[in-house]
Amino acid sequence: MAESTFDVVVVGGGPGGYVCAIRAAQLGFKVACVEKRSALGGTCLNVGCIPSKALLAASEKYEEAKHGLAKFGIKVDGVELDLPGMLSHKDKVVKENTGGIEFLFKKNKIAWLKGAGRITAPNTVEVEGVGTITASKAIVIATGSEVTPLPGIEIDEQKIVSSTGALELPEVPKRLVVIGGGVIGLELGSVWGRLGAEVTVVEFLDRILPTMDGEVSKQMQRILGKQGMTFKLGSKVTGAKVTNTGVTLSVEPAAGGTAEEIKADVVLVAIGRRAFTNGLGLDAVGVEMDNRGRVKIGKHFETNVPGIYAIGDVVEGPMLAHKAEEEGVALAELLAGQAGHVNHDLVPGVVYTWPEVAAVGKTEEELKAAGTAYKAGKFPFTANGRARASGTTDGFVKILADARTDKVLGVHMVGPNVSEMVAELAVAMEFSASAEDIARTCHAHPTLSEVTKEAALAVDGRALHI
Ligand code: FAD
Ligand code: NAI
Repeated sequence: MAESTFDVVVVGGGPGGYVCAIRAAQLGFKVACVEKRSALGGTCLNVGCIPSKALLAASEKYEEAKHGLAKFGIKVDGVELDLPGMLSHKDKVVKENTGGIEFLFKKNKIAWLKGAGRITAPNTVEVEGVGTITASKAIVIATGSEVTPLPGIEIDEQKIVSSTGALELPEVPKRLVVIGGGVIGLELGSVWGRLGAEVTVVEFLDRILPTMDGEVSKQMQRILGKQGMTFKLGSKVTGAKVTNTGVTLSVEPAAGGTAEEIKADVVLVAIGRRAFTNGLGLDAVGVEMDNRGRVKIGKHFETNVPGIYAIGDVVEGPMLAHKAEEEGVALAELLAGQAGHVNHDLVPGVVYTWPEVAAVGKTEEELKAAGTAYKAGKFPFTANGRARASGTTDGFVKILADARTDKVLGVHMVGPNVSEMVAELAVAMEFSASAEDIARTCHAHPTLSEVTKEAALAVDGRALHI
């Protein structure tokens, strides 16, 4: 190996790590990124955000071509699924994206050290197959997360799969049971449901998307139910028997009670993810962890060991790619003596089902629990001309504003393209906008974003088109 000394050594090449590496290189540091996978981009680009969105997009087109075009006066006969073709679309997108990061590394003169990294001292990383690397300024832990296992249910990635296996099923299962009604369960459940599987979601709590606003959960359960998804809420899976033909699950009420059997061809376990630090040597070097196995950090991403920092899924906060990226940028800027900062109160969350779900800021439940007096303005997509023209009228935008100051505290959306619409609200909230500020901003007609303006007007009971 030509070089063994760098300013910054990032362990992990996912959205947290690769973005931190790029920003650090832009700021003049000599940077190495240690990544053991055969491609850069981490979970997100290889087995997460990007492949799942490729399949969501493709399955949406299939569903629309098969069932959704007649209402527009378009007759299509003989629509057929070519699953290998769909999977190769996904693989191609992943390859292009991960290749893009490799290109960015070359452009920014970042060394990709291919192998597993182990921290052996506060400024030293041992990279398998590469050697000993010294970091004169910082080691950044960006090792991400892994699937949370469900005790007693062994993932074989054939019949009992994690999200990774669910991105490459060789055929459409007749019956897919998803354990966990969170983001992965609903997104990948939607993919296979659109392609023809009967999807049953078994959720431990009494509602799906339990961390989101209650009204959003209720609306999504209704809409996904209409699309054919079945929900078994307040239920836990206590065992799985794999047979030649599939899997038999034992399911009980969450509070205990009589068990029933559910048969599936494929079971997807999606009950969350947990921080990944295996083999990183954190014990030996004395880096503290919290009680959930995440690396403990201070305000500036520093661990208790000087010179070692951590960002992304491996630390506290939502396990989202954009949160990891923001932390990567902020940390690189702090290392360069700049004022790097992440506003963790305004990290948007999106579920890429159809319709989509998007949110930023506080939920009604959180505001109530905190005793904050608030006003709510809500407007449905059914009353929006553009949504009607495109035949996508499910959903609403809800804006929660402080009852006294009118400052926007939270926004919750279900509807077409809300993954894009939420950015307007995130910007507004970063600037401490009031609902009145949004209501008085001219929004183009006819656009879906008029629903946001109307919801802002509705905060003071003056929506125009309802
Ligand atoms: P990761 O992306 O997990 O990257 C960590 C990298 O570190 C990995 O490549 C790993 O190989 C490497 N590594 C670990 N240990 C070592 C070591 N010792 N040496 C060398 N390398 C090591 N988030 C969104 O915001 N939007 C989405 O739409 C979305 N969809 C998702 C869909 C699925 C199916 C899944 C599973 C996740 C999804 N996520 C999504 C979450 C997102 O993928 C993560 O939040 C994000 O990848 C976290 O980035 P990270 O850099 O912290 O970690
Ligand atoms: P999740 O936390 O979103 O949902 C897990 C669900 O499983 C919860 O509803 C929980 O109550 C339930 N659950 C937990 N234990 C259970 C049990 N024993 N039986 C039945 N249900 C149980 O986790 P998920 O869906 O696995 O996704 C992991 C993470 O990946 C997400 O938290 C998110 O951060 C990220 N992700 C983000 C996406 C996005 O931004 N669009 C897409 C996919 C994943």
